[in-house]
Amino acid sequence: MRDKSFRVNRRQLLAGGLAMAATLPLAPRAQATRTIPLVAKYGKAQIAGLPEPMTDVWCYDGVVPGPLIRYRQGERLRVKFQNQMTQGTTVHWHGLRLPNAMDGVPHVTQPVVEQGESFDYEFELKDAGSFWYHPHIQSTQQIGRGLYGPLIVDEREPVAVDRDEYWMLDDWRMSPEHQVVEDFNDEQDLANAGRIGNTVSINGIIPGSFEVAAGERIRLRLLNTANARYFALRFTGHSPVVVALGGHACEPHSPPEGRVLLGPGMRADLFIDMSGRPGDSFEIIDDAYEKKPYRLLNLVYRPDPPLRENPLDAAMRLPANVVPEPDLANAAREEVILEGGAKGALIAGTLDGNLLSLSELVKRGKYWALNGVLSHQHKMPPLLTFKRGQSVVLEMYNDTYVNHPMHIHGHTFQVLKRDGEPMPYRTWEDTVNVKPRERVEVAFVADNPGDWMFHCHILEHQEAGMMGIVRVE
Ligand code: C2O
Ligand code: CU
Repeated sequence: MRDKSFRVNRRQLLAGGLAMAATLPLAPRAQATRTIPLVAKYGKAQIAGLPEPMTDVWCYDGVVPGPLIRYRQGERLRVKFQNQMTQGTTVHWHGLRLPNAMDGVPHVTQPVVEQGESFDYEFELKDAGSFWYHPHIQSTQQIGRGLYGPLIVDEREPVAVDRDEYWMLDDWRMSPEHQVVEDFNDEQDLANAGRIGNTVSINGIIPGSFEVAAGERIRLRLLNTANARYFALRFTGHSPVVVALGGHACEPHSPPEGRVLLGPGMRADLFIDMSGRPGDSFEIIDDAYEKKPYRLLNLVYRPDPPLRENPLDAAMRLPANVVPEPDLANAAREEVILEGGAKGALIAGTLDGNLLSLSELVKRGKYWALNGVLSHQHKMPPLLTFKRGQSVVLEMYNDTYVNHPMHIHGHTFQVLKRDGEPMPYRTWEDTVNVKPRERVEVAFVADNPGDWMFHCHILEHQEAGMMGIVRVE
């Protein structure tokens, strides 16, 4: 990675010496009533920084990531979406509990938005938190070329931090000319760990440094929007506190083993007290791939005197979103086995209603199954069906040799157990990583009627069959 200066929002940096925590600027009220236009189009992005050439991208409103869509909890999102690309697309609102018709899944919840067409998305924002939006069609290519953006829903009451920042972590497979290599759905990527790129970006730029003020408390929202890459961040010299996962508040805690692990689709909100001294510099290391740790960027302290001498004395616990509590004693129990992959044990599977041998599946670019069934398009018979209001315990067993970040639409689940061990913290998430040969138990109330996608968020796995429908009737 080249050392390029990372965009810092100086405007939001507080003047030194200010003793009290500033409250966050809330989303402008105008957004509550105004309809936000959003356009999918072709564009160019300065990912590698000057003087390198710009990269051709597919993006929202001409920028990567797309524009920040920000509301306050309880408001209605109103987005008038238009497609100016020649490929059909949709917008999916990742992690949100919304009405099925607004979920952005082609052929299941809405027709494809073809070139020149529009679609109006409108729904109430029940949950505060860090979310994102992206297409749900040709995802490997559309998201892989830059179609994604942040959606932040602010808590009803302001949260005491000095600064609120988001980092959309992504990677790109770049040619030496800084153009996106067009080998989407490459067989090796489909069959193994997905399309992992060679160039990591934060908010669409190869990061170099991130400027901070001594003494400030930053709320840092991390969102992994990569097709397949995992991130595991270590903040040397600092003690980040995880305050939310998957958008939902959790008990504030230090990240396990000191690293914040994010599979594709996953988010974590951190509070970080900038405990260094003016002029200091600290590395943020990504060691998701143990053989290849690297410096993601540096936290660089401004020379100004510290904002305060002791860490901000304010509660870290965020207000909880109201999520129905699953009734574990009366829950429906379901098991989903994740299987397949180049080195996997899958010998046959059902595709479009036909049982096919592995070699037949491979000819069709299909490698991954859920309970022996592989997805081809989004529309398919449901994998699981529940009555509305039913509590569910879902056990996922990963019978493969790679990680799978499993994601459900329209609901949020409580992670109960990993390999039979109860979780130390209660979390509500929409995407949970399931390690090789691991069994993860989650629970939720199937309270949102409709057909909801349930899939691996490694987009190549989703493309190669690892998706099903959870029907709530
Ligand atoms: Cu982030 Cu089915 O999606
Ligand atoms: Cu997967």
